[in-house]
Amino acid sequence: MLTQNQLKLAVAQKALEFVPDNCIVGVGTGSTVNLFIEELATIKGRIKGAVSSSEASTERLKAHHIPVYDLNTVDEVPVYIDGADEVNHYLHMIKGGGGALTREKIVGAVANEFICIADETKYVDVLGGFPLPVEVVPMARSYVARELVKLGGHPELREHFVTDNGNIILDVYRLHISKPVELEETINQIAGVVTCGLFARRRADVLILGRQSGIEVLR
Ligand code: A5P
Repeated sequence: MLTQNQLKLAVAQKALEFVPDNCIVGVGTGSTVNLFIEELATIKGRIKGAVSSSEASTERLKAHHIPVYDLNTVDEVPVYIDGADEVNHYLHMIKGGGGALTREKIVGAVANEFICIADETKYVDVLGGFPLPVEVVPMARSYVARELVKLGGHPELREHFVTDNGNIILDVYRLHISKPVELEETINQIAGVVTCGLFARRRADVLILGRQSGIEVLR
């Protein structure tokens, strides 16, 4: 029986196969990606560098002497590698457990291919068991919370947490997300919402899923 950490390591290692030579790699955030960064460091001679989705990942990349580029100076990001809090079989995801959802969405949007790396505990039939993170401009906190209640959710302020962009996170409990694309659009249109942690309009292109029975690559 493999531990969750061993499964995370297995998918992080497998992800290296998706990194083209001489490219700038999009790098996500979280404990699975931290393992991926360690792996990326072993092949840093064959990549140009990375663009990062958080201050935390930037720090780790720099500690491994992997050059980190400003996204605005980069022409192409062939692949973006990131974890997920939940992923369904359409490869829609909930992300943002680490609070980096907005920058993750930006780098994911720029990348040609979004590669999600996850252990099997993240693979679900219906999204919403994991509370949906929503990044919100601080002055809109109460208004956005009331609008989220109207959508059937139970928002809770993530205490003592400020995003890399200076905003707050509302974690929305008890949403049964049967229409992820529609809900993502609805929440993103609430004034004061920077973005929500649903990645459905821009879903993953590839899921590298670590199972007890082995690694599966789903498209
Ligand atoms: C960070 O904000 C998140 O989107 C992460 O990608 C997600 O929480 C997965 O993290 P773990 O790899 O730590 O489970």
